[in-house]
Amino acid sequence: MRSLFDKDPNRFSNHSIQYNDILFDFSKNRITEETIRLLVNLAKACNLGSAIENMFSGKQINTTEQRSVLHTALRSQSNEPLIIDGINVREDIEIELAKIREVSHKIRQGEWLGSTGKPINDLVNIGIGGSHLGPQMVTEALKPFISDALRVHFVANIDENDIDDTLAKLDPTTTLFVICSKTFTTQETMFNATTARNWVLQTVKDESLLANHFMAVSTNLDATLDFGIAPENVFAIWDWVGGRYSIWSAIGISAMLAIGPENFEQLLLGAYQVDEHLKHQPFEQNIPVIMALLGIWYNNFYLAESIAVLPYPQHLHRFPAYLQQADMESNGKSVTASGKSLDYSTGPVLFGELGNPGQHAFYQLLHQGSKLVPIDVLASIENISGERKHQDALISNVFAQTEALMRGKSQQEAREELAQSGLSKEEIENLVPHKEFKGNRPSNTFLFKKLDPKTLGSLIALYEHKIFVQGIIWDINSFDQWGVELGKQLAKTILTELENDTSEQIEAHDSSTTGLMKHYLSHIGK
Ligand code: F6P
Repeated sequence: MRSLFDKDPNRFSNHSIQYNDILFDFSKNRITEETIRLLVNLAKACNLGSAIENMFSGKQINTTEQRSVLHTALRSQSNEPLIIDGINVREDIEIELAKIREVSHKIRQGEWLGSTGKPINDLVNIGIGGSHLGPQMVTEALKPFISDALRVHFVANIDENDIDDTLAKLDPTTTLFVICSKTFTTQETMFNATTARNWVLQTVKDESLLANHFMAVSTNLDATLDFGIAPENVFAIWDWVGGRYSIWSAIGISAMLAIGPENFEQLLLGAYQVDEHLKHQPFEQNIPVIMALLGIWYNNFYLAESIAVLPYPQHLHRFPAYLQQADMESNGKSVTASGKSLDYSTGPVLFGELGNPGQHAFYQLLHQGSKLVPIDVLASIENISGERKHQDALISNVFAQTEALMRGKSQQEAREELAQSGLSKEEIENLVPHKEFKGNRPSNTFLFKKLDPKTLGSLIALYEHKIFVQGIIWDINSFDQWGVELGKQLAKTILTELENDTSEQIEAHDSSTTGLMKHYLSHIGK
C-alpha cells in the first residue's frame, strides 16, 4: 500500500466516497483500480442488481422460511403500494408507526399514568438479540438527544442479576415495561417478563392494573394477551422483519421513547437515504457494495478470518455488539441458499470495541500479530457538545492508527530511530525485529460530521446492506438463523431434567454433559 500511495497522489480522492454527511475512505486497502473493476464484475456476475430489486420489491428471498425481507419498507418514504400476500404493507407500517408515535408522546409528556395515577419515570425494555441490541445501541448512541424526563433501561440476560440490578433502582408505580419479542416465546425474555410482572404485582396487587405497566411488541398477539397485556398496548411487527433488522419497527419503541419520535424519524430517514443510494448508485460508487466487496476480497482471496469494527465516539460503544448479531447471525452459514455445502469461506468473525480503549488492549495484534485483521474505523468530526480539545486528540488517534497500520515501520526505520537512543549496536540489532511493523494492514475509515440520528440511521443501513450484498455473492440465505435453534432446544430439555432430577435421562447425555449436570445437582443439594 505504501508504494501505491507513493505512485498515485490522487489515491485518496479516487478511493473515497462522500455521501451526505459521511465520508467513506477505502484508499488504505490492498487494491488497485483493477481490483475494484474485477470485484465489481464479480458482483455483476452474481446478479446483484436483480437481487437488490428482489429484496426491495418483497420477493421471498428468505427461502427457508418463505418470507420477504422488508426492513427497508419500514423506513421507506415512498407512497407507492407494496403488496405482500394481497396486503399493502405500507398502510400497516404507517398505522403501527402512528400508534407508537402517539404512545411515545403520551408517555414523554407524562400523560400515561401508572396504577396510582403518577406519570411514568422509568421504562424497562425486556428483550434479547434483535429485540434488545438495536434499541439499546441506538439509545446509547444518541444519548445527547435524550430528554431527562424518562429514564430508559434494558434487560436481556436470563441471569437474575440483570433484572434485579435494574429493578433495585425503580418504583413499580412509575415504571413501564415494554416486552419486546417477535415470537414471544424466547426463554430469556419470558423469564424476565414474568419476574417483572410478579415484581409489579407485589406492589400493585390488582391484575387489572397491570395494563398501566406493560406494553409489548410482537408478531404473536395471542401470547401477549395470554401474558395479560392489554390489546391496545400491543404493537405489531411482521414476519417479514428479521429480528436483527427490526430496530426500524415498533421494536425500536424504547429508542423512540428515549430520543423522541422526531429524532426517530430522522433515524429512519438516514437509513432510507442509504436504501436509495444502494438502489441507484453504480457499484463503483456504492458504499455498501464497496464495503461488501472489500470484505470478500480479504475473506476469500487473503483468507482473513475476522474483521474488527472500531468506533471512536464513546456513544457508539454498543455498535460492535449490534453488528456482531447483524453480521454473524446473517452470514454465519455453511450451505448455499439452495442447501448445498460450501467449499469457500463465508461470514467473518466480527469483533470490536471503542477505538482508544482498544488501542491499549488488543491493537498490538492488529499491528504486529501474525493474522490479517481488516478493520473499520468510525469517527465523528464534531462532538455534539461542541467540545474540541478532546475531539482533536481523539481524531488524531484515528488518523494515526490507520496510517501506522498502512505504513508500518521498516527495519531500517526502526534502526535509525534506535540509533538516537544511545544503545550499543548489538542491543539495537536485538531490538530491531521487535520494533519492525510490517504495515500493509487494511482499514476503512468512516468520517462523519456528527453522530446525529440521521447519520446513525445511515451507518446502520450501510452495514445492513453490506451484509446483504455479501450474502448474495456467497449465495447464502442471510435472513434465517437455524444455527441458534439446537442450543435452545437442548436448554429446554436440560432444564426439565434438572428440575425433575430424572437420573435416567441425565445419564443418557455424553459423559461430559452428564458429569456437569450431576456436579451442579449435587452442589445445589439435589
Ligand atoms: O435466538 C436468536 C433470535 O431468534 C434472534 O434472531 C432474535 O433477534 C432473538 O432471538 C430474539 O427473538 P425474539 O424477538 O423472538 O424474542
